[in-house]
Amino acid sequence: MASDKLRVLLVLGSIRDGRQGLKVAKFMKKALATRNLEVIFYDLLEMDFPTVKQPVHFYGPDRSGAPQILVDCEKTIQEVDAIVVVTPEYNNSIPASLKNFLDAFPDSAFGFKPSGITCYSQGTYGGLGAAIALRTTLGILACPCVSRMFAIPYVQNVLDDDGNALDDKLNTDVKPMLDQLVWAATAVRNHRKCAELPVSSFFGS
Ligand SMILES: Cc1cc2nc3c(=O)[nH]c(=O)nc-3n(C[C@H](O)[C@H](O)[C@H](O)COP(=O)(O)O)c2cc1C
Repeated sequence: MASDKLRVLLVLGSIRDGRQGLKVAKFMKKALATRNLEVIFYDLLEMDFPTVKQPVHFYGPDRSGAPQILVDCEKTIQEVDAIVVVTPEYNNSIPASLKNFLDAFPDSAFGFKPSGITCYSQGTYGGLGAAIALRTTLGILACPCVSRMFAIPYVQNVLDDDGNALDDKLNTDVKPMLDQLVWAATAVRNHRKCAELPVSSFFGS
């Protein structure tokens, strides 16, 4: 029998050598685990996610000839109830690796499942510039993000390598985003059981 738990796809957008992002993703895994969610973790570096030369939906309705990794990822996106994106700020936006991943899939795959943003930087603003840019992309992908974001300033100082908070403030700050995400994901999952998706993609589905 399929699990009744909400399923969340956790995507780590940073693939940089020496990245801080892995610590953040580990922290988020633990935070999500406190909510009794099933977590699927995509580390774009570990997955060796390719540079996408063609979005998966451009291969047509049967995805004929599409790289298997795109087909598999699309299936996962279709199956989860919510997305959490972990992003650093690069030049006031998100890393190319993360945009490359998101651009590979149609809005029909995301299907109005809610998203939550965790952003970080090594400075004061905690990557909020990236989060604002990411909201726009997630919005047009039919993956609207909840209003509360979780921002981590001075990321280099506040987490150990295993993703444990060195400052207890993080454990408090993450809660509003998770509260909203669980609420919205539960609502959308219930509604999807009784109503067809109204998605009509710009570029095919
Ligand atoms: C290409 C690049 C651009 C960056 N641009 C910004 C920026 O616009 N604002 C900011 O606060 N930090 C910026 N930073 C600093 C990053 O937020 C910080 O290095 C963070 O640790 C990057 O995440 P990562 O370690 O997972 O790659 C930038 C870093 C890189 C590598």
